[in-house]
Amino acid sequence: MSEPFTVEELKRRAAEYAVERFVRDGMVVGLGTGSTARYALEAIARRLRTGVWRNVRGVPTSRATAELARALGIPLTTLEECPVVDVTVDGADEVDPHMNLIKGLGGALLWEKIVAVASQREVIIVDERKRVPRLGTRSPLPVEVVPFGWSRTLRFLEALGGEPRLRVEAHGRQEQPVITDGGHYIVDCHFPGGIPDPEGLAARLCAWPGVVEHGLFLNLATDVVVATSQGIEVMQRDTGETGAVHSVG
Ligand code: A5P
Repeated sequence: MSEPFTVEELKRRAAEYAVERFVRDGMVVGLGTGSTARYALEAIARRLRTGVWRNVRGVPTSRATAELARALGIPLTTLEECPVVDVTVDGADEVDPHMNLIKGLGGALLWEKIVAVASQREVIIVDERKRVPRLGTRSPLPVEVVPFGWSRTLRFLEALGGEPRLRVEAHGRQEQPVITDGGHYIVDCHFPGGIPDPEGLAARLCAWPGVVEHGLFLNLATDVVVATSQGIEVMQRDTGETGAVHSVG
């Protein structure tokens, strides 16, 4: 009997499938952040190294990804130089049946969303664990907040029905707030039972002065590549008026 795939193997398969199917030489590519996106960067770098591709430029979605891309030899560009990104390949923490996402557990949601909005195609790569019937059931919602008055913003998130927690990391023996690439704090907000109305929640979050951005990526993914132990499944959004989601092989 064959061994089931490890999670790492599933991540690698999703990434390699996405690069093979959606990225072409000559493109400006949004480079995602996280352990799944890392495999996509490696697949792109391999094609550049072996001369299969000659002219791909990457727009990184975090400082960590910029560093990784440099180490792998992927030439970088900026949204100032290239305001339109052909395709972005990025991971996610949750994907619902409508291809809406939670992102940001890796802390890079603000730059990721800016690059996603600039992208003609936003390809999300996940392993099967990330599929959920309703957003918020597996992962907290990361919210990037202004450090000034952050505890007031925490109270606002509580009033929305969440259980917010400031993200901290160890500095020696002390814990300090995690600082994002944009210089903000992150609050991870658990919603017991999940998020019933992601659009409504997103609108309320955007209207609060202390909130910089949130990890709800709604109607942004054009394609979701899910690696399962049975094989690859692809969900695609109809770019027509309905925005309907359908699955293809
Ligand atoms: C980075 O902030 C996130 O949005 C990542 O894309 C997300 O957390 C998925 O990361 P993994 O692929 O490491 O699970």
